[in-house]
Amino acid sequence: MHYKSFNPVSMPANFNNDPIGIFDSGVGGISVLKHIHALLPHEDLIYLADSKYAPYGNKTAQEITQRCLILCDDLLQKNVKAIVVACNTATAAAIDTLRDTFDIPIIGMEPAVKPAAEASKNGVIGVLATVGTLKSAQFAALLESYGRNVKVVTQGCVGLVECIERGELHTPETKALIRQYTAPLLAEGADTMVLGCTHYPFVKEVIQDIVGEEITLIDTGAAVAKQLKRQLEENGLLSTSKEIADVRFWTNSEAENARQVIEKLWGKQVDVHRL
Ligand code: DGL
Repeated sequence: MHYKSFNPVSMPANFNNDPIGIFDSGVGGISVLKHIHALLPHEDLIYLADSKYAPYGNKTAQEITQRCLILCDDLLQKNVKAIVVACNTATAAAIDTLRDTFDIPIIGMEPAVKPAAEASKNGVIGVLATVGTLKSAQFAALLESYGRNVKVVTQGCVGLVECIERGELHTPETKALIRQYTAPLLAEGADTMVLGCTHYPFVKEVIQDIVGEEITLIDTGAAVAKQLKRQLEENGLLSTSKEIADVRFWTNSEAENARQVIEKLWGKQVDVHRL
């Protein structure tokens, strides 16, 4: 097991072809999984959706950290060589504890405040995220580092994750929530909006339709995939396989349509295992 006593320098070569673990509170991290699979097509991937416990956005940091430790333990039992926390809320709550506990590369993610500040023409950016992310110390530090020269308008999007968990991307309820949550950002003049939750890229087109083509929407899935690749390279952990890799899905969702929702978001038929 890869706990703190584990030393990656002495890692035997066959670790290279072990899978990478990716998890989220639910199905949102599949938006990140797509970027990872596109950039690293020879890496076997294991995706865990903690949907039974979604959303994380209204849970305490302690509760989220507990869930993350359990999921990482599960992934390590599946022999992963690296873990991607494909969830802004979980990263904000638990990344330090996870890195202190496990000694394999653990890649987290945070709202794209820096690229948004760079992309904004009028100096006003909006951040759509969960309440948990927005009130975290990590997010405060992010604003301190990269939000100083722009006006940052934040909006917690209560209920939106639940719609996406149900696979409802275009329903009147989803659209009404998006209208409600983007209105204050538009009213403040934001020309750039950060999708600060991995569920939101699945409604990116709906958001774009509502806010208008002139607003730039930014998420971090592609950047996280690149960061994962860098970490694998630095640790000598890139796969040596030439095969197109396996992508396996696991969920503890109790919803009858869990597989359909995953297939809808992933874009093809898959086997979904029960966690
Ligand atoms: N996908 C998540 C994020 O990036 C989690 C949302 C939630 O469960 O509230 O923040």
